[in-house]
Amino acid sequence: MPIALTKSLLFALGLLPAVLLGWQFYRDDLGANPIEAVTHSTGEWTLRWLLITLAMTPLKRLSGWYWPVRVRRMLGLFAFFYACLHLMTYLWLDQFFDWSEIWLDIIDRPFITVGMLAFVLLLPLALSSNRYSIKKLGRNWKRLHRLAYVAPVLGVLHFWWLVKADVLEPAIYALLLAALLLMRLPPYRRDEKAKAARQGAG
Ligand code: HEM
Repeated sequence: MPIALTKSLLFALGLLPAVLLGWQFYRDDLGANPIEAVTHSTGEWTLRWLLITLAMTPLKRLSGWYWPVRVRRMLGLFAFFYACLHLMTYLWLDQFFDWSEIWLDIIDRPFITVGMLAFVLLLPLALSSNRYSIKKLGRNWKRLHRLAYVAPVLGVLHFWWLVKADVLEPAIYALLLAALLLMRLPPYRRDEKAKAARQGAG
């Protein structure tokens, strides 16, 4: 499939949850507490897109396809887009921009503190995800983009800390994230490199 078509399909797919949520909100079809429903949905989609973005490099390595790395930036920006919706829901619909309340929340509730930290880490990633920054920052761009590993860890922690009893869902995200991060460790990559070298020689 041509890369432009793959990108267009993924773009439509990326927007779909937001469009559906907007439609449900407009139709007043989000249950007894629509603000809570929007917060939960946008929070989960932020985490999902972060993990999907992280899955692209291993997918390329395991499959040999090149398209996963070419759509990676767009997927990461979708994670940021849902994080913005999530944060705006909290600031606007939940707290009505009451900055003193928001500040108290950030310093008093650890799950909000780490959520905020995760968002702050995503900011430089989103702002530097353009060709100009890649050129300008050189090797530092790669270093900066290692934050893409830290932000989802904080995102999972944020989720884990806010659920009171049933940790099943955050635990599933934590396992998936751990697997994606483990696949980046040198021993695993050495294996892959050795396999590629053997295949090249054979
Ligand atoms: C990368 C950043 C973030 C990620 C990945 C994230 C993810 C999540 C997830 C997965 C949930 C739970 C959804 C569910 O229950 O199904 C959630 C809930 C929530 N998040 Fe975030 N979040 C992030 C940043 C933030 C920020 C910056 C704030 C506000 C300052 C925030 C405030 C909340 C609130 C208020 C809830 C609902 C808590 C409740 O149910 O009582 N999040 N978030």
